[in-house]
Amino acid sequence: MNITLKKLNKTYKRVNPSTYFEKIEKKNIVELEKQRKNLFHNKLNFPIELFKNKKLLDLGSGTGLYSVIYNLWGSDCTLIEYDSHSFKKSKEIFEKFGRQNSQNNFKNIDLFNFKGKFTLDKRRVLYDIVHCNGVLHHTSKKELGIKLMAENLKSGGVLILGASIVTGFLQRNLQRYLLYKISKNEKEIVKNAKKYFKKHLMRASKISGRSIKAIIFDTYINHKIDSYSLNSLMEIFKKNKISFYSSFPKINSIDDEEMEWKNDKENYPKNESLNFTNLIWGSRNQSKKNKKFETFSDELLEISKSFNDISYRNTKTISSKITKLKKNINNIIKKNKKEIPHVSKMHIYFSEINTLLKILNNREVIKLEKFIFNTKYLFKGYSGLGMNYFIGFKK
Ligand SMILES: C[S@@+](CC[C@H](N)C(=O)[O-])C[C@H]1O[C@@H](n2cnc3c(N)ncnc32)[C@H](O)[C@@H]1O
Repeated sequence: MNITLKKLNKTYKRVNPSTYFEKIEKKNIVELEKQRKNLFHNKLNFPIELFKNKKLLDLGSGTGLYSVIYNLWGSDCTLIEYDSHSFKKSKEIFEKFGRQNSQNNFKNIDLFNFKGKFTLDKRRVLYDIVHCNGVLHHTSKKELGIKLMAENLKSGGVLILGASIVTGFLQRNLQRYLLYKISKNEKEIVKNAKKYFKKHLMRASKISGRSIKAIIFDTYINHKIDSYSLNSLMEIFKKNKISFYSSFPKINSIDDEEMEWKNDKENYPKNESLNFTNLIWGSRNQSKKNKKFETFSDELLEISKSFNDISYRNTKTISSKITKLKKNINNIIKKNKKEIPHVSKMHIYFSEINTLLKILNNREVIKLEKFIFNTKYLFKGYSGLGMNYFIGFKK
């Protein structure tokens, strides 16, 4: 029995994670289609015309709102979904909004049990596109998930992955830890999330279309969020013969405003990214030899990796992860005091994490609200990055 999946489904049965609007109406689908087109065209450099006349497999399809858009762009879709409510909903959505005379299949199963179809000579029927959005980090088999995606792809076929990455997710993991530390039960987690992360939740809800409740359940109540490290994801791609094509945010893009891709009309990089690029280009002669920057980046990655997969009630593993995190943060603060200019933001940020951990450790809940209000970077604005998008091609 897949315990992770059963627990996940218990949460999702209560609050569905893939309902992006209150009412599923044509005008909402048109709006969602526009956002998706912006993501593919302008951010991932993947023309939506490439969905035409394709066979697409969607693993963990939820209510099928994204697959129906790919269907409207010309793909015939196979939807794999474990949650029975979402599975039924996706059939309804396809019946109502899907492309006429298109051939679609729906399977209400664990995606890891998906065997696909075989030809008479026992060869697997392969897909042109395999899509998996917001799913694999909720399983305990994130590497196997990519393998499954790759196995079902034709040579030259397209892998589309939406998943969280440890560095982007560090602040969300800290939020999870904070909530678990100060809340006695689930009800309190919900209450405290609204109290301490109100602005973040309002912004996230406005941008994603999901209700604040759905975001709280998916991000904080949900017992499993096991993010990928960017480096290991590239290794998994290589291992499974997936060549990296594009990602959003782009690797090397650092501008906060660019994260708000749904509001962007065009693809011009913002100033912060240009400045950062200039900094890298201008110091390129140094970058390879810049050991301090390399060590700093390694440490940042190590911190995020070691503070991953934070689970409610799993106090034993949390406390050893916290001990490690405190040690790493202290080291990095000590070492990087007067270092490289573009690390100074990080220095303040890490000092803030350090203070947060002290407050939580001493259970000084009274100080918490004022502290979070006064931080310069921690839990401000985007609070890291909940989701990254990747496109790869099967070799
Ligand atoms: C956050 S939702 C994303 C849904 C959809 N892909 C989207 O982007 O809107 C995650 C979905 O993955 C499904 N899921 C998670 N693990 C699964 C598994 N092992 N097999 C099938 N579905 C799974 C959940 O039931 C849920 O509908």
